[in-house]
Amino acid sequence: MSELSYSVSGTDILRDISVEIPARGMTALIGPNGAGKSTLLHLMSRQMEPMSGQVVIDGQDLATITAQARALKLAVVAQHLNIASRIRIRDLVGFGRWPHARNRPTAEDRAWVTDAMTHFDLIALQDRFLDEVSGGQRQRAFIAMAYAQDTEWLLLDEPLNNLDLHHARSLMARLRDMADHQGKSIVIVLHDLNYAISWADHVVALRAGRVAFEGPVQAMATGENLSNLYQTPVAMDHVDGRPFARYHR
Ligand SMILES: Nc1ncnc2c1ncn2[C@@H]1O[C@H](COP(=O)(O)OP(=O)(O)OP(=O)(O)O)[C@@H](O)[C@H]1O
Ligand SMILES: [Mg+2]
Repeated sequence: MSELSYSVSGTDILRDISVEIPARGMTALIGPNGAGKSTLLHLMSRQMEPMSGQVVIDGQDLATITAQARALKLAVVAQHLNIASRIRIRDLVGFGRWPHARNRPTAEDRAWVTDAMTHFDLIALQDRFLDEVSGGQRQRAFIAMAYAQDTEWLLLDEPLNNLDLHHARSLMARLRDMADHQGKSIVIVLHDLNYAISWADHVVALRAGRVAFEGPVQAMATGENLSNLYQTPVAMDHVDGRPFARYHR
């Protein structure tokens, strides 16, 4: 994306964001509350329009393609999931197939829905309404819907919120596998630095609406960069030969 800017009533929320997010990999989007991470995802998915600048995927400006074409390229799991609750889990996940199936789902579409529910541990809950499941189960249902959309790009805004450690870890492992073996491009907003360091290969750090640093995780996720980013001491340790950020106390 190049020179993306966004403002609300004269106040800049994002200024001149120019980054190239590598395809077929996992990019962690990090930064303090209010830095502009969710806004950037909304601009990337065209749920909001930038005041200036472009988002380009595969050489195509996203502003110039139809909503249907966009929905085949890019799926989003938003931070705030507001949708009517009287919908069954199975039907919610099925919405993910809409750009492919419209209202005529094929056997392949149904197989995708079953697969998505299997991967995100929702089979036993498939007949429940969204307001009859727990916060983490609900979160997983939205992730499964985006997974079922089977797009090249998958954008997730704090998907680990509400997830227990088993489901958090298995989500990260699945996303990693999708990047490594299915050629998917993942952008994930994370607050837990150790998840970001352990699983992502690229990092984009935002602070006050600007890019603070970006690049390969190994090179850029240093104690110094992270301490500056959050204005909080972060020490980079190694555990079993792998980087581990210490910031709890
Ligand atoms: N509709 C709006 N009107 C005015 N300011 C807004 C609006 N929406 C967001 N903002 C401001 O834009 C900035 C960026 O918000 P954004 O939601 O992108 O942050 P974030 O990095 O996702 O934060 P968090 O980690 O808390 O989710 C914040 O300062 C926020 O208060
Ligand atoms: Mg946010």
